[in-house]
Amino acid sequence: MTDDLQKRIQAALANPQNMGELAGADAVGAVGNADCGEMLRLWVKFKEQNGKKVIDRATFQSFGCETAIAVASLATELIRGKTPAEALALKTEELAGELGPLPPMKIHCAQLVEGALRAALEPQSAENKTPAQPGASTLLDSFSKHPEGVKLTFLDPGK
Ligand code: FES
Repeated sequence: MTDDLQKRIQAALANPQNMGELAGADAVGAVGNADCGEMLRLWVKFKEQNGKKVIDRATFQSFGCETAIAVASLATELIRGKTPAEALALKTEELAGELGPLPPMKIHCAQLVEGALRAALEPQSAENKTPAQPGASTLLDSFSKHPEGVKLTFLDPGK
């Protein structure tokens, strides 16, 4: 990883946005990467704006990969005010925003964020349209106690 990228990641981590469970969320998506063991859960709350359903707020929890946290922090800001279709149309590198191009070994970190967003927003994922499960105090709790509210997808890190 370049020093520049490391600095941008550290800058995003110095003031991470939208970390933690979102009370009253309308949708939730979770994904995991079997190779590195990282998991990421993302909550979304919608609002009506000019007759359209747009993302009011999105938050996330992760197990600690710095790049995934940095991307999730930037991405959850980026998708505010967008319709689900507009958010789903964003490419992985757009979600990573000002971090810029990621090295090959870190691209899957951004894909994890993209996967969680997809799991929360894809219209056909009806099971993810249920509100986030209350009482899940940690990401691990949410996976182990409320599997019915979580879609766990193991991404192919080679993609
Ligand atoms: Fe796997 Fe970042 S190292 S998500």
